[in-house]
Amino acid sequence: MRSWDPLEIFDFHQLLGNKTTPLIHLPHLAKKLGIKNIIVKDESQRLGLNSFKALGASYGMAKQLEKNPDIETFCAATDGNHGRSVAWMARRLNRKSIVYVPRNTSKGRIEAIRNEHAEVYVTDNNYDITVTKAQIRCDKENKIARKNVWSLVQDTSWDGYEEVPLQIMKGYWTQIHEITEQIISSNVDVLFLQAGVGSWAASIASYIMIYWDNPPMIITVEPLCANCVYESIKTGKRVSVNNHKNTVMAGLNCRTVSKFAWKILKNYVRYSLAIPDVYTKRAMRLFAHPIEDDKAITAGESGAGGMAGLLALLENKRCMEKRILTSSTTTLFINTEGDTDSHSYNKIIRMADKR
Ligand SMILES: Cc1ncc(COP(=O)(O)O)c(C=O)c1O
Repeated sequence: MRSWDPLEIFDFHQLLGNKTTPLIHLPHLAKKLGIKNIIVKDESQRLGLNSFKALGASYGMAKQLEKNPDIETFCAATDGNHGRSVAWMARRLNRKSIVYVPRNTSKGRIEAIRNEHAEVYVTDNNYDITVTKAQIRCDKENKIARKNVWSLVQDTSWDGYEEVPLQIMKGYWTQIHEITEQIISSNVDVLFLQAGVGSWAASIASYIMIYWDNPPMIITVEPLCANCVYESIKTGKRVSVNNHKNTVMAGLNCRTVSKFAWKILKNYVRYSLAIPDVYTKRAMRLFAHPIEDDKAITAGESGAGGMAGLLALLENKRCMEKRILTSSTTTLFINTEGDTDSHSYNKIIRMADKR
């Protein structure tokens, strides 16, 4: 990763029409929560797609096409944002897109992918098995065509599948590169990163470890029912979790850490949290209903994951005794998505906190 050039990646995205997304300070919320500073990078406007995901897919797909101009169809499995981004980029590249989504994917998220002209298949399975189905389909189509005309664009890696996910992680660097330019003098003490398969968190962590003089403490946050990073850190090896429960944090509902992400996360994550949905719902409402002249932020279920982790920490006596968060702590969050399922978003922010 040391050989990756952030400016080459940034310039690639500029050519796609990328605009730097806002970095927002929420002093009143920080005061209310008893810490010094809350900084939020807001990805809800990224490339007009309501999430950060296109940064990775666009870069990975362009590099694949450069290598193999025979590609006719890009295929992906997704719990929403990645698939929408793959379909969006395929359109720009004049290619077809086929997107597999797990059962329980919301109608709104499927619609958003179809609106980018993708053919969408809903499987009877969870995210992990849906990824395998997309992979099998690609292999089958390429066998029939006797050449690689289908390209699997997956944001997670496993034995034998590393190149594309690495390029996707490379694409995510534009986001942290922007933050580095925007943050200037603020020293970040704690960075909360929500994790699905962990590729995004690993990408951000890798950039920070290379380019920041004072790397912050990194804390990952996952849904309780899909806590594969947490369990992997606990056991010291990459493990899958097997839980049939569901979570509103659809983008984080993954049961296996990406092979490549694990190599990075195991070295740089200081604490790993697995939290129930109640915290992400509360975090979404905190962002939506600002205090005094703090700015309102539209944070979707997975986007609010980092702040949800902070809220969970504040209620945990043992963590507070460790003084991870104090009145002099500056925290950085990345709101990775806006209201990607507006029906669910509106329902959640209208609810009152149950405490
Ligand atoms: C909004 C959002 N945030 C965070 C993530 C986590 O990314 P990763 O699966 O690379 O851990 C995702 C994944 O799809 C997502 O959609």
